[in-house]
Amino acid sequence: MEKIILTGDRPTGKLHLGHYVGSLKRRVELQNSGEFDKIFVMIADAQALTDNADNPEKVRQNIIEVALDYLSVGLDPEKTTIFIQSMVPELTELAFYYMNLVTVSRVQRNPTVKTEIKMRNFEQSIPVGFFCYPVSQASDITAFKATTVPVGEDQAPMIELTREIVNRFNNVYGETLVEPEILLPENAVCQRLPGTDGKAKMSKSLGNCIYLSDTAKEMAKKVKGMYTDPLHLNITDPGHLEGNCPFIYLDAFCNDGHFEKYLPEYKNLQELKDHYTRGGLGDGTVKKFLINVLDETLVPIRERRKQWEQDIPAVYEILRKGSEAAREVAAKTLHEVREAMKINYFDDAELIKQHSEKYASVK
Ligand code: TRP
Repeated sequence: MEKIILTGDRPTGKLHLGHYVGSLKRRVELQNSGEFDKIFVMIADAQALTDNADNPEKVRQNIIEVALDYLSVGLDPEKTTIFIQSMVPELTELAFYYMNLVTVSRVQRNPTVKTEIKMRNFEQSIPVGFFCYPVSQASDITAFKATTVPVGEDQAPMIELTREIVNRFNNVYGETLVEPEILLPENAVCQRLPGTDGKAKMSKSLGNCIYLSDTAKEMAKKVKGMYTDPLHLNITDPGHLEGNCPFIYLDAFCNDGHFEKYLPEYKNLQELKDHYTRGGLGDGTVKKFLINVLDETLVPIRERRKQWEQDIPAVYEILRKGSEAAREVAAKTLHEVREAMKINYFDDAELIKQHSEKYASVK
């Protein structure tokens, strides 16, 4: 069986370091591993509209931001089909059929949906479209017969629901769809990178993000303002690592080579941590090191972004071509789905013959 990846992001803002360690970096590695037959990365504008109905302009403006972020981290349109969800209307039709295979209470139990309903103050009245987005996500995945969905852990309930829909569909209508598997980030720090304020997660609404598109200066300023250990007042004081942002980021980003290059007094992160907890190591030193480490990741991303920014029509062209290619694949699956459900009336010679015979005897 072919190995196929599908994943995506809602275009509601620029992508940040949390997205990078949580999924973008892995996507590029998977893309370049040569292990996958096809890779689809989707800008989920239709899903973004399910909770931004009154602000389509936000979605409209951020499609290009996300596309630029994709290209700057190294997604290569030669290897990866990058497309816009709403440009593949077949996905909507699939979702309409899948909705019949899912109960309201099943969606109500989805922990990610529950959290989002609270966050968006939807408790009083939930938009139907928003409520159905997990089902539409199952269409996104199955339309491409994806075997592998690399996403963060918050997306696990969606993949679980997709698997249920696939099983239900295949049971009722015959083997048609492929059951996908989730691929989570390898390391726990990467699954939930905290914001620069030490809060649970990097998030635009909290204003605690370092964006991939931040300038070197903006990034350095944010690192310098990072939350560390409030009890570490003097350099000589013993420091605490728990909840200490620069150290958490170092866990996610640094390797021994970085020490050799930028901080040769230490062999590795453990030595740096030991010195910090013992006392005698200032936050400034750690932050300066982190700036160097982050820059090693971010400089090439910034450079690639700058180049693409000079040719925006080419970026839209990539999205157009990608959407056309994606549409072809989704249309093929939709055709199979309609066939399995026996709602492909005009292609159904058997049905036409059966009805001819039924009425032939009436005369
Ligand atoms: N729900 C994802 C997010 O919020 C975006 C998304 C839409 C997605 N459809 C998908 C991710 C299909 C993986 C597979 O970022």
